[in-house]
Amino acid sequence: MSPDSGRKSGRQVQIRGVLCHCQREEFVQSWQGGWHPRLLVKVTPKMNTSDHVLSDKLQAVQARIAAACMASGRPAGSVQLLAVSKTFSADDVRQVAACGQRDFGENYIQEGVDKISALQGGAYPLVWHCIGPIQSNKTKLVAEHFDWTHTVDRLKIAQRLNDQRPAHLAPLNVCLQVNIDGGDTKSGMAPADVLALAAEVVKLPRLVLRGLMTIPDPVEGFDAQLAVHAKARALFDDVRVALKLPHFDTLSMGMTGDLEAAIHAGSTMVRVGTAIFGGRQYPV
Ligand SMILES: Cc1ncc(COP(=O)(O)O)c(C=O)c1O
Repeated sequence: MSPDSGRKSGRQVQIRGVLCHCQREEFVQSWQGGWHPRLLVKVTPKMNTSDHVLSDKLQAVQARIAAACMASGRPAGSVQLLAVSKTFSADDVRQVAACGQRDFGENYIQEGVDKISALQGGAYPLVWHCIGPIQSNKTKLVAEHFDWTHTVDRLKIAQRLNDQRPAHLAPLNVCLQVNIDGGDTKSGMAPADVLALAAEVVKLPRLVLRGLMTIPDPVEGFDAQLAVHAKARALFDDVRVALKLPHFDTLSMGMTGDLEAAIHAGSTMVRVGTAIFGGRQYPV
């Protein structure tokens, strides 16, 4: 391999069973020190203890998803993993991205925008999902920086996102958030209102209605979790049949504690934070 080929692009190598990508600068640096095939391992992003922990945790979640797909008779790869990076640093995201993860979810919009900016133009093309509540004064930030939002539950928010989506970006992917278990304090619309809002959102040209999202209250046990997720699946199917939308393909549900039941019920995207990044610490 010539030094030039090292400069032109990153490379992929397998470390501890995880696909990692080598960064351009590191190839150049390693060549300057004299190229040797074994250096391939040295030029991967530095793997300290916490990198290993992150890659092991990511792999463990991927294995859980694969096992749940198999147990539910669903094709491997029919469920996408969204890594929830809220409260974790851009560096943590970079490390998880180096192990092949591309989709990241953020709850707090300004925190998400800061990370998106910090990682823009980096070695990995990342896909950013807004999964937190959106107030009117934050729609512009979401429209300008994110690729997806999962938390639309009012027409006014959808209209603002549509109007503020910059022309040079692809339409914003949108899921409608549904309060599927009727929790009093939660965001999300009532299931009975979903079809009417969906029918309005599809008229907005700068949005693509991709599906539904739910965050049920935690319940113990697979069967109880499945019962709630099955309601979301039934609603998802109703909307799909009623509106016959070509891109309505995403049921965003399932987190660290209930992803198996969510996959069994038909989730197509699980949002996992704790099992990948560890417990979150919030500022007091
Ligand atoms: C909307 C949403 N989805 C997913 C998650 C990830 O949850 P967990 O850390 O249990 O995987 C969170 C975490 O707060 C969240 O707010």
